[in-house]
Amino acid sequence: MDAGGPAPPLFLLAAATATAVLAAAALGWLLLAGGRTAAGPGRRRSASAAPRLPPGSTGLPLIGETLRLIAAYKTPNPEPFIDERVARHGSGVFTTHVFGERTVFSADPAFNRLLLAAEGRAVSCSYPSSIATLLGPRSLLLTAGPAHKRLHSLTLTRLGRPASPPLLAHIDRLVLATMRDWGRHGAPAVRLLDEAKKITFNLTVWQLVSIEPGPWTESVRREYVKLIDGFFSIPFPFAYLLPFTAYGQALKARKKVAGALREVIRKRMDEKAETSGASKNGEDEEKREKKDMVEELLEAEGGSFSVEEMVDFCLSLLVAGYETTSVLMTLAVKFLTETPTALAQLKEEHDNIRGIKGKDQPLEWSDYKSMPFTQCVISETLRVANLISGVFRRANTDIHFKDYVIPKGCKIFASFRAVHLNLEHYENARTFDPWRWQSKNKLQNAEGASLFTPFGGGPRLCPGYELARVVVSVFLHHLVTRFSWEEAEEDRIVFFPTTRTLKGYPINLRRRPDYA
Ligand code: HEM
Repeated sequence: MDAGGPAPPLFLLAAATATAVLAAAALGWLLLAGGRTAAGPGRRRSASAAPRLPPGSTGLPLIGETLRLIAAYKTPNPEPFIDERVARHGSGVFTTHVFGERTVFSADPAFNRLLLAAEGRAVSCSYPSSIATLLGPRSLLLTAGPAHKRLHSLTLTRLGRPASPPLLAHIDRLVLATMRDWGRHGAPAVRLLDEAKKITFNLTVWQLVSIEPGPWTESVRREYVKLIDGFFSIPFPFAYLLPFTAYGQALKARKKVAGALREVIRKRMDEKAETSGASKNGEDEEKREKKDMVEELLEAEGGSFSVEEMVDFCLSLLVAGYETTSVLMTLAVKFLTETPTALAQLKEEHDNIRGIKGKDQPLEWSDYKSMPFTQCVISETLRVANLISGVFRRANTDIHFKDYVIPKGCKIFASFRAVHLNLEHYENARTFDPWRWQSKNKLQNAEGASLFTPFGGGPRLCPGYELARVVVSVFLHHLVTRFSWEEAEEDRIVFFPTTRTLKGYPINLRRRPDYA
């Protein structure tokens, strides 16, 4: 989410946390519970510790600078919120007070790196309970310590292998199936974000449980969309008794999505129990590539995961990659449409691949590896768009950085956006310029790499980082080789509560002659 948001990892969840915490702050304001909402744990420290905090202003009582931050993120140019504070305090790390809590805000790449690496030790990520309820207590996003380490590495094993031929072939088929009717039957317009969401949802379902798009996926998706809405709604107390509120509906929807996953998992457990006697060929069985995430989970750690653990785990993966990857696809197309030279170069790259392969051959890993300019476009879209503008952490101990001490318990926001759009780190930082990522550029060295953290880093590094690139590359390949398009309506990027386009980017498509 935007820096405007508060808490967590996934832009969605960051935005969601913003809503949840803001709602809590508003309630706190109304009830005026002795100002308790405003008092982050840091407040309890003695006044003598205060001067050692990074410089800053905590704004109005209780509300702090929340309204200013939201106001900034509701404009087409939210950057002044950070720029002004960095300039005023002469420091890339400053203190503010947002979403009901004093928060140290970092626009400093070195401090951001430190925070990412220190996850689980000096800092840990935390979510409000309303978010945790929707995710489920055993979600990867909420687990910590050794359990998190095991689950994270399991996820990386599964998602970090997009080179696996069945996965690439499936992405190829899914993208083509989604595009099948585009530009036909006298209906040239599509809302790109909606189409991208279908692709990412169906892909994740397939990776989790190997179910192809059809009535089952559509019925789960209908509930899932309500669940996602819940992340941005106000979590009224006892919301489960208020099914007419968005949060109440989300709780109901969560039950249904979890129920559908539970049913599939139980069935798979039964099947496994039936076949386990038959396939006791030891090592071979171990080496065989697992067909999906549920199979991976059923066999992990000697089969000790409970059904509920598997349900929460699957649900967290469904939530994590959905908005981010779909908005990335949509914004890449928007930026390309607005930068015709980049679009022409991208088309050339993909027409060359098609020229070699022939018209209908599925893409292979070697094709993906020969899309260097596409990778520049994706990196630049990630840098400019900042789908997750940063991550929230809480200090588990006093943290010393430069001359400052950030007290134990204090909330910290590591802003990726502030670094990615900083003119000192990137020339013309606020302009979409995919050529800056070409191989001879200094962004390719270790220092450049350390500035660029769209997928976070450290123990919570996004396990879907390569998968997201593959999906977007395949999508762009088929889009530019099969279609030309223009905007059907003027659309613009908005940043609150999440980064996306206001209208979902409607475009008018025409089929290119080879695919008419
Ligand atoms: C453009 C696409 C994406 C972006 C920008 C993105 C970004 C991120 C970031 C910044 C984090 C770190 C959060 C933190 O440190 O607190 C994260 C975590 C995570 N991402 Fe992604 N992500 C993307 C796509 C995906 C996909 C496709 C999946 C899986 C299907 C995924 C699954 C996850 C999971 C499970 C986590 C939590 C990891 C943990 O807490 O250990 N992401 N993502």
